[in-house]
Amino acid sequence: MSHTMAQHKTESTERSTAREPAQAVGRTALAASRRRLVMGNWKMHGGRAANAALLRGLMAGAGGAAGCELAVCVPFPYLAQAREALGNSSISWGAQDVSAHDHGAYTGEVSAAMLADFACRWTLVGHSERRAMHGETDQLVAAKAAAALAAGITPVVCVGESLAEREAACTNDVISRQLAPVLALGAASVMRMVLAYEPVWAIGTGRSASPEQAQSVHAHIRQALSALGAGPVRILYGGSVKAANAANLFVMPDIDGALVGGASLVAEEFLRIAAV
Ligand code: PGA
Repeated sequence: MSHTMAQHKTESTERSTAREPAQAVGRTALAASRRRLVMGNWKMHGGRAANAALLRGLMAGAGGAAGCELAVCVPFPYLAQAREALGNSSISWGAQDVSAHDHGAYTGEVSAAMLADFACRWTLVGHSERRAMHGETDQLVAAKAAAALAAGITPVVCVGESLAEREAACTNDVISRQLAPVLALGAASVMRMVLAYEPVWAIGTGRSASPEQAQSVHAHIRQALSALGAGPVRILYGGSVKAANAANLFVMPDIDGALVGGASLVAEEFLRIAAV
């Protein structure tokens, strides 16, 4: 897994444009330079007909969310469909996972080069469902992030604590442990990533973290990024984000957008989140 990090511009600065003043309330000028990113995670939902309708709806309404970068992470078989539909739009697409390996006898795996073949801009890595159901370790997640970078794909590295860990007051320790091998890839690599804080207890439960709870963890992550020299990296919040709670989350100084599961399956709702 060779890297050519120096050749790549930073993820954060590459796409930055000034935020509309009205959207920057409560955020510093520095925070406003991290362009908001709202990314859908379709998980294992959809089908060709339903996807076509959803993608059409997203493209029709994307103009209303012009201050925000929009993306969808679709199941592997639909990458070609996403590329075909979104190719001439402002909406980018990506995958929900990637192999840490380049190629070889890894039945069922999909390499970063294959994702690049479908012009993926993003891939999620380390989503809590993969950590929990597929035994992905912090080290494996970091290796996947490195594999994505080596293929020119931006990894969206997901971290988050379980309810038991939050109740045991070790949220920040868990996040630091999950991030450690990722940060060990070095500032140049981390600058080309996006991070996502997704408390496990908030995913798919309808129970979002409060803006203050989320901001507190985002600030902890920002501190670790800044210490590394990667302060401008975008940090998304994920976990039951919907139009009704997005505005209060987005006003927080270290929340740079959202990773949206359930609400990304309905075009109008997803676009409302992006338009707040
Ligand atoms: P949710 O999922 O928005 O349905 O809670 C978020 C995620 O798992 O990325």
